[in-house]
Amino acid sequence: MAPNSLFNLAVLSFCYLILFSPYQALGSSTRSLFVPAEINIDFNAPPPLGLCATAVSIHGYKCQEFDVQTDDGYILSVQRIPEGRAGGGGPNRPPVLLQHGVLVDGVTWLLNSPQQSLALILADNGFDVWISNIRGTRFSRRHVSLDPSKPQYWNWSWDDLVLHDLPSVTEFVFRQTGQKIHYVGHSLGTLMALASFAEGKLIDKIRSAALLSPIAYLSHMNTALGVVGARAFVGEITTMFGLAEFNPKGDAVNNFLKSLCATPGVDCFDLLTALTGKNCCLNASTVDNFLKNEPQSTSTKNLVHLAQTVRDGVLSKYDYGNANFNVEHYGESKPPVYDLRKIPHDLPLFLSYGGQDALSDGRDVATLLDSLKLHDVDKLHVQYIKDYAHADFIMGVTAKDVVYNQIVAFFRGLH
Ligand SMILES: *[C@@H]1O[C@H](CO)[C@@H](O)[C@H](O)[C@H]1NC(C)=O
Ligand SMILES: *[C@@H]1O[C@H](CO)[C@@H](O)[C@H](O)[C@H]1NC(C)=O
Repeated sequence: MAPNSLFNLAVLSFCYLILFSPYQALGSSTRSLFVPAEINIDFNAPPPLGLCATAVSIHGYKCQEFDVQTDDGYILSVQRIPEGRAGGGGPNRPPVLLQHGVLVDGVTWLLNSPQQSLALILADNGFDVWISNIRGTRFSRRHVSLDPSKPQYWNWSWDDLVLHDLPSVTEFVFRQTGQKIHYVGHSLGTLMALASFAEGKLIDKIRSAALLSPIAYLSHMNTALGVVGARAFVGEITTMFGLAEFNPKGDAVNNFLKSLCATPGVDCFDLLTALTGKNCCLNASTVDNFLKNEPQSTSTKNLVHLAQTVRDGVLSKYDYGNANFNVEHYGESKPPVYDLRKIPHDLPLFLSYGGQDALSDGRDVATLLDSLKLHDVDKLHVQYIKDYAHADFIMGVTAKDVVYNQIVAFFRGLH
């Protein structure tokens, strides 16, 4: 494989992750590692076109853009693909909501060819497809009063996605369609759903959930780079960034990554394997397409919260770092735990995880499944894909045959 494509794959793996990792260390030039040399983009310019125009309409599908305001004032971009390319959308097509992971946005569902991309496959199979984009990603960098160039805009973690973004988007789709919704999440998008269900949220509006590369427990994410990254996020990083924007394309983050990659034992070159695991089935053109669109900003606080999950081995709300601050926010010295055993036992769930996924490690998935052991047997579908790693679930060229057809069948089985 050419060094450049190895490099791209490594970049890809990073972004994907949920993590925080690495690399610029090996870059010989001053440009960001995340930006392919041939692409010249002003990252501070607002994107001229939305997701519909750039990634959906070009393939001949109808697509509508919506703005959804959360109850804490963030303005989120949401897309709807109401019918398949052949048309024929009737009034009662079951709605499906797609929720992407961290450091990326909704375009991740649209990177492969139309015949291979989950969003368009669902539309062609009779579903009314809705795509969410969480706060801080390029089309959702808005708020009624806060300015994304200021730290206050970035004062949130995934607790807030559970509390505000997901309920607001779900409520919106529910009102527009008048129907309960099938949910599909990848990576952080699975954690958002599991935490919501554990809190008794969304249950009245969600018909089922398909969770790809499920992330709940992260204590076995034991790659050198991941561990060093996670340690940095619960350690010194907030003094470097404050609790502000984490922009993977910015200088501050690139310098941080350089220092991380200089840590003994951390091999930033073989990042793909080191971080996401060995993705079996990525298409080089798709990877290029990914790099034209991602990674996206998130809040430093969000990554700190994920790193706390790695450190603590439990799924809790954001830890303010000392007992007094926690008491101030929660009335308890420790952050409250999300108890996944409280997920309603009759909620139809489809979980798909990969044997090569370094983030959604099999042992952590086992812990998740253990917390679901009282789930109604006929309501829990678990799929294990030996060769798949983290990115294969949304970009794998074989994903249609291996995963998406199974999701379609799972949803159809509920009607
Ligand atoms: C961030 O939000 C928390 C509440 O979630 C609040 O207590 C804190 O003061 C905020 N910090 C800043 C810098 O706005
Ligand atoms: C890889 O992507 C390109 C561009 O979309 C496409 O033409 C090609 O068929 C894809 N290859 C596979 C194996 O899917």
